[in-house]
Amino acid sequence: MQMAVLAISLVLMVLIGFAFVAAIRSGAPPSSLGHVERRRWRLILAMLAMGIVVTIASLRPWPQAVAMTADTATVNVTGGQWYWDIDNTELPQGVPVVFNAHTEDVNHGFGVMNAAGRLLFQVQVMPGYVNQVQYVFDETGEYRVVCLEYCGLAHHDMITDFTVLANQGSMDNG
Ligand code: CUA
Repeated sequence: MQMAVLAISLVLMVLIGFAFVAAIRSGAPPSSLGHVERRRWRLILAMLAMGIVVTIASLRPWPQAVAMTADTATVNVTGGQWYWDIDNTELPQGVPVVFNAHTEDVNHGFGVMNAAGRLLFQVQVMPGYVNQVQYVFDETGEYRVVCLEYCGLAHHDMITDFTVLANQGSMDNG
């Protein structure tokens, strides 16, 4: 399903690209451009290049980029009206923790907050999908899971907790 959406998006992007090229070609030939137009074109290309660089640089720490290492801990999260079920509530500090989140019923929003109530990361939880999010907990202590997508009467009650413990150097939950 996701591959089909990706393929359709790529085909549409190529078609839009062709439309842009056709529009540019139907304009005045480059030799007839004046000094101001040429400067304008250079400015547009420079902004485009800068936009690509900024986009790539800012997306590099993308939380959804899941990179498995030998130390990676995996946790399965199940959401439902109105509960969170986490198959391991004692997570290691300082290593990547991958949350595999799925739902038993409707859309939910898996959000994790620290003890100070600050939202650290979140991922959408959708029927028919297992959505992954990875996070490295720098501090030990209590963390709270909340729901960030309105899912019915007791949405506000969809809360659970887990603990992050000092990493012992080995994980037994695969
Ligand atoms: Cu589940 Cu709101």
